[in-house]
Amino acid sequence: VKKTARSIGVFDSGVGGLTVLRALRALLPAEDLIYLGDTARLPYGTKSRESVVRYSLHAAEVLAQRDLKYLVVACNTASAAALHALRDRFAPLPVIGVLEPGARAAVAASRSNRIAVIATEGTVQGGAYQEAIQLLRPGVAVDARACPLFVALAEEGWTDGAIVEAIARRYLEPMFAPRAGERAGAAATDVLVLGCTHFPVLAGCMQRVVGPLVTLVDSAGTTARAVADQLAALALLRSDSGPGRTSLLATDGAARFARIGSQFFGEKIAPEGVEIVDL
Ligand code: DGL
Repeated sequence: VKKTARSIGVFDSGVGGLTVLRALRALLPAEDLIYLGDTARLPYGTKSRESVVRYSLHAAEVLAQRDLKYLVVACNTASAAALHALRDRFAPLPVIGVLEPGARAAVAASRSNRIAVIATEGTVQGGAYQEAIQLLRPGVAVDARACPLFVALAEEGWTDGAIVEAIARRYLEPMFAPRAGERAGAAATDVLVLGCTHFPVLAGCMQRVVGPLVTLVDSAGTTARAVADQLAALALLRSDSGPGRTSLLATDGAARFARIGSQFFGEKIAPEGVEIVDL
């Protein structure tokens, strides 16, 4: 990595990764950030592993041409499928995914050692969360399930209301129902991992469905913290005080990206501020 390289690249299949960008912006205000949402090919979560690897390499390629010092894979599906391929392809550029930080946050929050994970089909099928959690704390029971409709709801900007709640009940209630054959008072699942960067905007509704005793965990904050620590360790943090620039790229639909993305980013995004790129 060139010592003069300035930017932290971040990508996701759509607007979901803006939850990670928001956490990075808050923690590292002096840094230049470039975000790419591959909106033309979303969703990644229902595609084959091979396709997700290919798409991820293309997305990272576009970012790598823009003076990167660090790459953040702000998509659990891409982190699960393509992290190794990305590290191989772009070495020595440091590449981090959201999965390991998410697993770490989950383990830190659980006392009962029963953790529920919701993610896309791709993430769940590969067993990546189960593995990452077990690696950190062997013996933890992990119940991971795919909730693909949450991605569609989030991308549609539907984050609350009767329809969202009905879908949340359908997905989540079975994960938190008392387990057959278990004695009363057996340790209950106490953590729900939002294993997809699209899910945090649905957190309010999910929390109502699972009740106040369950801690919802997402990887945005922990990932941002890990990025800051690694940049510091590599002496790659920007030394002047900024403020840094944030550039937004998408592969389709600037207006839609701006409209829906604003909710995820927590700040108004102007459509003129979104550059459309082809991969
Ligand atoms: N936001 C992506 C993730 O974290 C997935 C959404 C999609 O299916 O593209 O897994």
